Amino acid sequence: MSNKIILSGMQPSSHLTLGNYLGALKNWVSLQDDQDAQSLYMIADLHAVTQNYDPKVLANATREIAAAYIAGGVDPKRASIFVQSQIPAHSELMWLLSTMSQMGKLERMTQFKDKAGKNAERAGLGLFAYPVLMAADILVYRATHVPVGEDQKQHLELSREIASTFNTRYDAEFFPQPEPVIMGDATRVMSLQDGTKKMSKSDPSDKSRINLTDDADTIARKIKKAKTDAAPELPGDVAGLEGRPEIKNLYTIYAALKGVSMDTVFAEFAGKGNAALKGALTEVAVEHLSPITQRMADLMADPAGIDAILRDSSDTAAEIAEKTVVKAREIMGFWG
Ligand code: TYM
Repeated sequence: MSNKIILSGMQPSSHLTLGNYLGALKNWVSLQDDQDAQSLYMIADLHAVTQNYDPKVLANATREIAAAYIAGGVDPKRASIFVQSQIPAHSELMWLLSTMSQMGKLERMTQFKDKAGKNAERAGLGLFAYPVLMAADILVYRATHVPVGEDQKQHLELSREIASTFNTRYDAEFFPQPEPVIMGDATRVMSLQDGTKKMSKSDPSDKSRINLTDDADTIARKIKKAKTDAAPELPGDVAGLEGRPEIKNLYTIYAALKGVSMDTVFAEFAGKGNAALKGALTEVAVEHLSPITQRMADLMADPAGIDAILRDSSDTAAEIAEKTVVKAREIMGFWG
């Protein structure tokens, strides 16, 4: 067994965005060369049904996430890529863990508050219990490292607490503490229309994000229309970004896609106008994303091929998950 177990996932709730790519997927690929690690990447379809969704598109959206993982560079031979709902151990462990998850803590989750909106009374139990399922996703593999974007940090803290509660209550050193791995500069990519709001697959405005399915013309159009500010010159240092969230976001995206430091970006654009930044950003975005988009489209043209990859690649995950649940039941004193 490897010393490091890396686990992460994305919801097939809509097309993936540049935020998902830079905040998570790109980092998964860079972690994959670690020989000492076992990597597990799931498609979180059970999470995707906690909010309104279309049953007619769920299966294909699931394939599209798998295609994005592979096109983005996750190698199904080195990592296990699988669909959460296909491995019943996730749901079973969630039930066991729900007995040690406090409602008060779940109520404080920012994502629950955002998604439930004003009418939390009418929110579904699934949306409320979402972080417990996420803890189960992680703990069922006894994962040690969880590479995610900044917005998942609070859920990970809860997973750590649930793991400790289990270990303490049953006097067993069973679950390791999963470490959040929040890597790189673009841990929170912001909306192209509002630099204070996270770029999100669920934003009603498609102009707010770059989707991994967007073609070069669409990317160019969205960057051209991206919100900026009225200052005549672009800043050349961190202090100059103060109060300029949109520029900070475009700088961050540029640095992450180009693989350069913020200092290089400051040096490149200091004193120039917004058009220079938008032009250069379009070029690097298209250059970086086009091969991914193309490969995704090729994979999606053969759904049976993706299904075969998902089936072959999920065995390792299923085996580990089943063993953990059997052991957890034993520790908790169940018959059998
Ligand atoms: P999801 O589908 O919302 O997002 C998938 C990943 O993308 C990251 N991300 C971002 N990073 C930077 N900037 C952004 N604007 C941005 N938007 C999204 C997220 O942080 C995440 O890493 N609950 C999870 C899915 C999940 C999961 C898990 C993750 C279910 N079980 C177990 C890790 C471990 C979610 O909804 O991610």
